[in-house]
Amino acid sequence: MGHIPALLGRVVELLVPALEHGGVVVDGTLGSGGHARAILERSPRAQLVGIDRDPGALETARANLRPYQERVRLVRDNFESIPSVLERLGVEEVRGVILDLGVSSPQLDEAHRGFSFRGAGPLDMRMDPEQPLMASDVVNGYAQRDLAAVIRRYGEERFASRIAAAIVRNRPIRDTTHLAEIVKGAIPAATRRTGGHPARRTFQALRLEVNRELEALESALPGAILSLAPGGRLVVISYHSLEDRITKRAFAEAARGCICPPDFPVCVCGAEAEVRVLTRRPIRPREQEVVDNPRASAAKLRAVEKLGAAA
Ligand SMILES: C[S@@+](CC[C@H](N)C(=O)[O-])C[C@H]1O[C@@H](n2cnc3c(N)ncnc32)[C@H](O)[C@@H]1O
Repeated sequence: MGHIPALLGRVVELLVPALEHGGVVVDGTLGSGGHARAILERSPRAQLVGIDRDPGALETARANLRPYQERVRLVRDNFESIPSVLERLGVEEVRGVILDLGVSSPQLDEAHRGFSFRGAGPLDMRMDPEQPLMASDVVNGYAQRDLAAVIRRYGEERFASRIAAAIVRNRPIRDTTHLAEIVKGAIPAATRRTGGHPARRTFQALRLEVNRELEALESALPGAILSLAPGGRLVVISYHSLEDRITKRAFAEAARGCICPPDFPVCVCGAEAEVRVLTRRPIRPREQEVVDNPRASAAKLRAVEKLGAAA
């Protein structure tokens, strides 16, 4: 199935006004180009820089964005490198950035990518098929303690120790269905009925470890904010609490001005707010969107606007 872009209307509402007079917008998670296409369609003067670390996604997006190709530049890279990508392209500042985090439907649906516990596939899970670390290295190679730490930290899985022990006992784990069975067997039967598929958290943890997803997000946000022109906007859509927490903190940090103690008569820290937060609470999809696109059910959108002379 193709990818249905989450919260599309809200993304358009937030980014299109900033592109009214043209300028560059960066889609750092281009995927199939769904968000990018809608932005280009509604912003006839905007130029797009589309980034993805998955070459297959770039190929699909290139085809989907063909009607706008004169206004599009596609780059295979990690979104944590947005400032250096822009420098290479000679772009000084941008009017908008979107990061729609995680994996796309095509990545999940292609069993050979190994992202899904639903189909049999190799233990791969790499967004960038050229990077050396893959899920089998973590599952079959990490020490039990390190494996448990990954599953606990990135899966927020309370049975991480039991799952890691079961994995180590059953090594080598052959493929995704074998792994899903082992995880299911390691979780107490009474708790299996809640929280979706019992392997969901472990698969999420392995994916985040393999792709360094949280580290990439953490280092990308300050760079994305730095790249914005005054009045430019950054929109982030996250799909689980770990991503949302990082985004919320980074936005709060960038929106905080002076950090001097309140009894100081004048500011000595010199800190100034870089952005204003546009979403006091995260924007969630409406009921109908979740019916049409169940993958969007966990989506949370947060956005900021860069402060400065033209804001
Ligand atoms: C949820 S999909 C984006 C879908 C897209 N918004 C659309 O409408 O088609 C996320 C995409 O971001 C890419 N991605 C995830 N983390 C990345 C990173 N750190 N750097 C570059 N691309 C990344 C994935 O390969 C995937 O194609």
